[in-house]
Amino acid sequence: MILVTGGLGFIGSHTVVALQENGYDVVIVDDLSNSSIDVIDGIEASSGIRPLFEEMNLQNSIALSSLFQKHKIKGIIHFAAFKAVGESIQKPVAYYQNNLGSLLNLLAEVEKATSPIPFIFSSSCTVYGEAKELPITENTPIQSAKSPYGNTKQIGEEILSDTVHAIDGFRVISLRYFNPIGAHSSIAIGELPLGRPQNLVPIITQTAAGIFPELTVFGNDYPTADGTNIRDYIHVMDLAEAHVVALERVLEGKSNDAYEVFNLGTGKGSSVLEVIQSFERISGKKLSYKIGARREGDVIAAYADTTKANNILGWKTKRSLDEAVASAWEWEKKAMKFLK
Ligand code: WQD
Repeated sequence: MILVTGGLGFIGSHTVVALQENGYDVVIVDDLSNSSIDVIDGIEASSGIRPLFEEMNLQNSIALSSLFQKHKIKGIIHFAAFKAVGESIQKPVAYYQNNLGSLLNLLAEVEKATSPIPFIFSSSCTVYGEAKELPITENTPIQSAKSPYGNTKQIGEEILSDTVHAIDGFRVISLRYFNPIGAHSSIAIGELPLGRPQNLVPIITQTAAGIFPELTVFGNDYPTADGTNIRDYIHVMDLAEAHVVALERVLEGKSNDAYEVFNLGTGKGSSVLEVIQSFERISGKKLSYKIGARREGDVIAAYADTTKANNILGWKTKRSLDEAVASAWEWEKKAMKFLK
């Protein structure tokens, strides 16, 4: 049984489907603080298999212990965390308590287990901040976090790299995501931001759907070709499939080191305007947008050097930016129909 914490979230739900498509039994733990129970139906519609689900806050160590007694957990993929950069600045205590407390409770269960349980950690390119060199490799210096959210990812990685040597046979892989976008081809699961979305692609699709009157491009005076920020937008199913590959690496004991880190991106940078052009190309619709002020905390550019994941993990992205944006638009149109 593979434990997927936060498995009803955007990346978590897509990873559950990829695991099921590869023959794994999954139990999801989620506290529904930023996800909907209906996602279970979406996962079943996507894979044809209904995953086991336990509603639980990972800070409840007693409930977590009983879960490990109830299920023979042979691997953990840990997504569950609060993840809004801006909110983390307003509520730092809640972010450190939840994100680090949950991780520590999971590690306490790994420590108690009779045999080591391999662990995949959901990390983020946020740890690199404004990288001095591009593309970003796994050796690019980690910069001090600009938000408590980003700091919980950095501290989480440090906790794991310290812990792994204290638990005999424990193997951990941290996956540093760039910008996940899109939806599973079934369009039965997708990005479901509760409340007002923060990220570019759901704001594009919700603007096109008429939920917002226009998109504001946060600055076009950056030192880039078209003046707008550059990011590495990766299809969420490519990202999900990378988790299966990483899990198999640790399950089969193929890791070179007890603790490994991989960047997960396409290796290609796209500007905000290029993403807008991609949307207009795949949808045939003109997007209403204006140029506004820069957003506090935005880095100029971030995209991955994917050499390590390609050569060592044996994984690379298969889907294009247009495919990812098109799947996000299909998901939005479906959600619109549903809401009407
Ligand atoms: C992308 C670009 C904006 C909205 C975030 C998190 C990061 C990680 C990935 C978790 C930026 C521009 C956006 C809008 C805009 N998540 N934009 N108008 O900030 O790169 O990363 O998601 O680990 O932690 O911070 O993604 O989608 O918010 O922004 O111009 O209305 O789109 O300025 O350049 P970001 P994003």
